[in-house]
Amino acid sequence: MNNKNNLESGANAVGHKGIVSAVVTAIYDRFSNKGVIGPLDPNARIDGKTCLITGANSGLGKAIAVQLAQRGGRIIMACRSGIPEAGEEVKKLSGNPNVEMLKVDLADTTSVHKLCDSLRDRKIKIDIAVMNAGLMPLQARRSPQGFELMFAVHFLANRILLERWLSDGVIQPADEDHPAPRVIFVASEAHQSSDPIDFSRFAAFENYGMRDGMKHYGKTKLHLCTFATELSRRLNPENDIRIAVHALCPGPIASNIARESPAYIKPILGPIMKLLFRSPEQAAEPVIYLACAPEMGKRTGAYLHMMREKAMSPLARDPSNGTQLWQHSQQLIDAYR
Ligand SMILES: NC(=O)c1ccc[n+]([C@@H]2O[C@H](COP(=O)([O-])OP(=O)(O)OC[C@H]3O[C@@H](n4cnc5c(N)ncnc54)[C@H](OP(=O)(O)O)[C@@H]3O)[C@@H](O)[C@H]2O)c1
Repeated sequence: MNNKNNLESGANAVGHKGIVSAVVTAIYDRFSNKGVIGPLDPNARIDGKTCLITGANSGLGKAIAVQLAQRGGRIIMACRSGIPEAGEEVKKLSGNPNVEMLKVDLADTTSVHKLCDSLRDRKIKIDIAVMNAGLMPLQARRSPQGFELMFAVHFLANRILLERWLSDGVIQPADEDHPAPRVIFVASEAHQSSDPIDFSRFAAFENYGMRDGMKHYGKTKLHLCTFATELSRRLNPENDIRIAVHALCPGPIASNIARESPAYIKPILGPIMKLLFRSPEQAAEPVIYLACAPEMGKRTGAYLHMMREKAMSPLARDPSNGTQLWQHSQQLIDAYR
């Protein structure tokens, strides 16, 4: 997220302004391996660490749950569907019985708060949080509170969850006895091609159809990346690592993300995804690295594109955007407690 090491930033290939350019970029990115970091020591363990993963019943989130469970984590899958089947599958695939599912609809602020109440009441302490849930709707839809769905799930839910977990002590900063917990945001390179956030219309519902879906997806991931940068900055003044905050784009994944694409596109998109995109298991690699590599607990603000460390967009790194995003969203948090 910072650009201290003159990390490369910017969209690759032709950007992510539309579906076609996004697919071309995804294919380009899939086969580029410039400046790759890692790999993670196959024996790196997280025994006894509590890991919460949102959207863990499908695609990338489920693969992350399995791999963190295989490394010894206690897994909490925060999901709105697939309960209990997905949890049973994660237990079976990982051989780790320490897996539970909690229900949450991240589009609904009331449901988000209920999840937080339950974690607080049970005195759960999260060591590794993977904020993974995401979607790509065919057209603009409203959340129960009237926000655009991607804004609600990609940004607002994460903003509320972190606010609550920090104030409830569900995530506690490092001290002499405990290493820094880690918060990992699953973002997207699509944020690099986004127009700036218009703070004069912050959180306003905007109508869009299929043609502009990718543009809005990128915009909500820009909200997320700007938040991740600002959170990292606020939690770790002077770069004294109290809570490690990282983000990543997993690259193109053959998952269920395009589930809403129209019937006439599916026969083309399905085989392209299967053939050229990575499996969720492969795509989980940067998340597992950020979650488990010892060195990633001693620093904050890294952004990986697949296994390549790079810089987020200048918009996401601009502190004045971070401050404005924080202040505007604080008003939403106060309004929807
Ligand atoms: N696929 C790609 O090429 C790609 C590329 C870059 C970044 N990403 C990011 O990777 C992440 C994982 O996506 P994926 O590719 O694994 O897609 P996926 O298979 O569709 O998984 C998305 C997950 O998010 C959950 N989710 C969506 N809305 C939710 C809500 N309101 N409340 C609770 N959970 C909700 C889904 O739950 P349900 O099953 O209940 O809907 C599902 O578990 C997303 O953040 C996505 O933006 C994906």
